[in-house]
Amino acid sequence: MSTASPPSPPAPTRPRFTRIVRAPEGAGSRSAPSALPGDSLAWQLLLAARAIAAVRAGRSLTEGLQTFGAEPPATRAAVADIAYGTLRRYGWGDFMLGRLLQKALPHPEAHALLLASLHRLETWPADRHTVVDQAVAAAGEIAGGAFRGLVNGVLRNYLRQHDALAAAAADDVVAAWQHPRWWIDKLRRAWPADWQAVLAAGNAPPPMTLRVNRCLATPADYRARLAALGIEARPLGESGLRLVRPVAVDALPDFATGAVSVQDAGAQRAAELLDPAPGSRVLDACAAPGGKTAHLLERGENLDLLALDIDGVRTARIEDTLRRLGLRASVRVADCATVDAWWDGRPFDAILADVPCSASGVVRRHPDSKWLRRESDIRRFARTQAAILDALWPLLRPGGRLLYATCSVFPEENAGQIDAFRVRQPGAVRLHETQLLPCDDHDGFYYALLQKSA
Ligand SMILES: C[S@@+](CC[C@H](N)C(=O)[O-])C[C@H]1O[C@@H](n2cnc3c(N)ncnc32)[C@H](O)[C@@H]1O
Repeated sequence: MSTASPPSPPAPTRPRFTRIVRAPEGAGSRSAPSALPGDSLAWQLLLAARAIAAVRAGRSLTEGLQTFGAEPPATRAAVADIAYGTLRRYGWGDFMLGRLLQKALPHPEAHALLLASLHRLETWPADRHTVVDQAVAAAGEIAGGAFRGLVNGVLRNYLRQHDALAAAAADDVVAAWQHPRWWIDKLRRAWPADWQAVLAAGNAPPPMTLRVNRCLATPADYRARLAALGIEARPLGESGLRLVRPVAVDALPDFATGAVSVQDAGAQRAAELLDPAPGSRVLDACAAPGGKTAHLLERGENLDLLALDIDGVRTARIEDTLRRLGLRASVRVADCATVDAWWDGRPFDAILADVPCSASGVVRRHPDSKWLRRESDIRRFARTQAAILDALWPLLRPGGRLLYATCSVFPEENAGQIDAFRVRQPGAVRLHETQLLPCDDHDGFYYALLQKSA
């Protein structure tokens, strides 16, 4: 129960099932007392609906879920599970509601509750009537209970018409592939042989992969330590261990003292490809939260590394990462494209430009991006990426190497971007190019390693 007594001083006794509900801004609700048990599915559905409504109002899921930060860990985990699952099913729930509702539902939270409940019914079919009852109880907390009858009717109709609705959804491209139409069309054009596999990977739960800090242990040694604890893992790449089942980081031996980091195997390719020589002067231009910065420092001897990020809050996370791993770098909050504001005029031997992008290669980790992105965002990202490349290139010494990286699967941000850059900079020699499409083992990434001709 979320009403467990705090240690000291003793809290005043509160009625067991009374809690204050604070809806996220813009979700269409106001603070109100709730009578739902804190460990009930109804409460979880209600909070998930509020997070989903926040996303549909334009906020990130992380922000939407932070609103419930005071809930106990088990409740937060259950709410996140429902919200992530519901948002992964882009288009599916809207398709179902399009069939089940006579007219559009104008209340964002009630609409989100229906989406979350439909998702729960699909993923928890053994106990369908409990889900319906709990959804109706959650609806009692929205708009004074005005939608209780509607929620009950819609969900029961869904159960009655399940097979016919499922067959119709299978014929609808957005409902079936659970991505926006423009996204599907773009992938189909870019990857005629692979678009379905890319979409399927985007809908699957992501793998959990560790990067072993090779200053402290070999992957084989660390794998043996995991096995001794009953945590199964298999080697992946130079320093990676892919866990068979995700675990909390607290369960990983010596995580707090830097033995391992959680980093996707695709992301681990960055430091391996840039591979700066010992003692190099390195710029990590878009560095937060510092995963690739740390990997560069773990691999490279005596690097003189400057890590920049435009976002002050995220930059603080680079410091946290380096502190945990016992690594050192200069860290600054700066717009890497406004070079005059931060560059001391000394050229870099190696630059990592892990630029802001659509994150279409990591959509399974951030399903809210399917709802938040617009097709026009891709052109906007491409303009920003080009500006960053143009600003950083003069900072590289002749013979130096720049690794351009995105976690996107859209060519405008990747090969198309680099082709256009090489027309503007004929002295940029492409040493290597890889487009990793997301799969069971890694997320989607693009890398282009460029060398400045001497
Ligand atoms: C893909 S993330 C970087 C991930 C990071 N390299 C890692 O491996 O942990 C892109 C980062 O670029 C930052 N960013 C966006 N525009 C920037 C700019 N003009 N200058 C510096 N950082 C920028 C964002 O704040 C974000 O943290």
